[in-house]
Amino acid sequence: MGTEIPLQMNAITISEPGDADVMQLTSVTTPTPAAAEVLIRVAAAGINRPDVMQRQGMYPPPPGAPDILGLEVSGSVVAVGEAVTQFEIGDQICALVAGGGYAQYCIASEPLCLRIPENMDMVAAAALPETYFTVWTNIFERGALKSGESLLVHGGSSGIGTTAIQLAKQFGARVFITAGSDEKCQACIDLGADAAINYRSEDFVERIKALTDGQGVNLILDIVGGDYLPRNLKCLAVDGRLVQIALQHGPKVEMNLLPVMLKRLTITGSTLRPRSIEEKSQIADALRDQVWPLLDSAAVRPLIHATFALGEAAEAHRMMELSQHIGKIVLTLE
Ligand SMILES: NC(=O)c1ccc[n+]([C@@H]2O[C@H](COP(=O)([O-])OP(=O)(O)OC[C@H]3O[C@@H](n4cnc5c(N)ncnc54)[C@H](OP(=O)(O)O)[C@@H]3O)[C@@H](O)[C@H]2O)c1
Repeated sequence: MGTEIPLQMNAITISEPGDADVMQLTSVTTPTPAAAEVLIRVAAAGINRPDVMQRQGMYPPPPGAPDILGLEVSGSVVAVGEAVTQFEIGDQICALVAGGGYAQYCIASEPLCLRIPENMDMVAAAALPETYFTVWTNIFERGALKSGESLLVHGGSSGIGTTAIQLAKQFGARVFITAGSDEKCQACIDLGADAAINYRSEDFVERIKALTDGQGVNLILDIVGGDYLPRNLKCLAVDGRLVQIALQHGPKVEMNLLPVMLKRLTITGSTLRPRSIEEKSQIADALRDQVWPLLDSAAVRPLIHATFALGEAAEAHRMMELSQHIGKIVLTLE
């Protein structure tokens, strides 16, 4: 361990699952890094919808993960385990973590730490890991999006959606999104989306048909599930792929399998958090190689909607639950 690391730290803890007020700023033991881990003094921590679900008791941490909320942080390395070779004390990094981000100090596995992109502040860097890992693995690996193909992103103004739009455009796709207000739709157009569909006032199936001359899209990234499944299948082109990453309308649905056969569709999906360090480190390698240069040149950037102090985590969660945000909400600690 390095010096000047307090034995106790401030963190947001949850006494029992519930609404945003169950989150309290308390004093807990500062964690110690294992051999292949670093300890980060957290400058900022990104908030993600899975944190809200965990707080509500609907998304328990996987075995071995800290029960403190928070899946992504930025900050300075203050201690390194004996097997760490790539980072040293004082390095500024951001990291994907299995939990523990809403705290003054947080443990990260060395392979899941990434340098801060050039000319990027700590708030923006904290907003990168969870959405960039998720979007990369689901759109470009599972979804195999290629240049010249078309993509429909449901929830275009979400943290995930705003990342998906920018990356898919950079890699040469035509991007359509759905969102719940005209303001959110406009924000997605401003980020580069080719068309935006307000799902409250328009039928996205009809719009996608019109936008693609009746052909349908090659790939859909869906966070809605439930009754969206049959409608998504209608939107897919021959050989289309549906990647399911959340189920806001529920996991169960009755479906007609015929279009899956007739259009040779692929339905897949994934969750990031329970995957092994090895699997996540492969995603980190791809991001370093293919995406960090785009962040360095500011070709893509996280969209920050609001920041809150650590002690205001409840307010930050309430903002996310009201769903008025566009992009990311971030906690700041410095
Ligand atoms: N599988 C994974 O590995 C993984 C990892 C991270 C996140 N996720 C999931 O990805 C989603 C986005 O996460 P986030 O952190 O970016 O959260 P977020 O910013 O809070 O986004 C949630 C979004 O869902 C939208 N939404 C709700 N119902 C919709 C509908 N019927 N059609 C279109 N959009 C709808 C909301 O917009 P409106 O209010 O305007 O509808 C909002 O933009 C969450 O569901 C989260 O659980 C999955």
